Amino acid sequence: MIRSGLFVSFEGIDGSGKSTQARTLADRLRAQDVDVIHTREPGGSPGAEEIRALVLQGDPDRWSAETEILLFTAARRDHLERTIRPALEAGKVVICDRFADSTRMYQGLSRGNLRAKVDALHDLMIGVEPDLTLLIDMDPETGLSRAKARNTVEERFEDFGASLQEAMRAGFLALAEEYADRFRVIDGARDAETVAEDVWAAVSPHLT
Ligand code: ADP
Ligand code: TYD
Repeated sequence: MIRSGLFVSFEGIDGSGKSTQARTLADRLRAQDVDVIHTREPGGSPGAEEIRALVLQGDPDRWSAETEILLFTAARRDHLERTIRPALEAGKVVICDRFADSTRMYQGLSRGNLRAKVDALHDLMIGVEPDLTLLIDMDPETGLSRAKARNTVEERFEDFGASLQEAMRAGFLALAEEYADRFRVIDGARDAETVAEDVWAAVSPHLT
């Protein structure tokens, strides 16, 4: 079904349903005998999972914004080297829950405008974009209440508050226009099955 690798990322604010949709897509592809790697950021390789714990747990002021850019990019570099690139070279479909667009938004927007630094480090150390990015768009209030209901220890960014989540949503929509060739915006404020149908409609043309 698939002749060369396909790199699909899911993006959106916390609680928008990315993980649910990534899982559903992976299951659907596997049911069609497609070789799929379902992974996530920060994380997705043993070293990057260790960095995940450093950046997502503990005091929200633990790291400066600049240090965070370095940590998330270090995690991404390891993930790319150990997990993503080998899978793509083997012709697999890589489904990634968040990728560099999350750093452009979270570290690039949340504590001043650091987007230029994020992009410079990305160009230097990563240099890869997904073939297709699915932005699961929804209002932050709903997303936040869904995310909070999970009650995990990884709460640093979920505690941003409503106004920053709103800026994040707008930022993701602007990013979708900036990278219009690879982004598809999907309305996440519907039942999971309906959202999954839109995800499938966006992904299936890439499977030839
Ligand atoms: P994200 O990965 O974007 O943070 P999740 O997929 O983890 O989002 O979903 C957050 C919470 O909302 C989970 O408890 C999940 O079961 C629930 N959820 C996901 N998609 C939907 C949906 N379309 N409608 C209602 N609840 C949903
Ligand atoms: P994730 O596990 O996807 O959280 P959620 O399911 O709540 O969306 O991501 C964890 C947090 O990490 C999330 O709040 C966004 C943040 N994050 C960044 O700040 N920068 C990044 O580069 C990435 C990949 C994630």
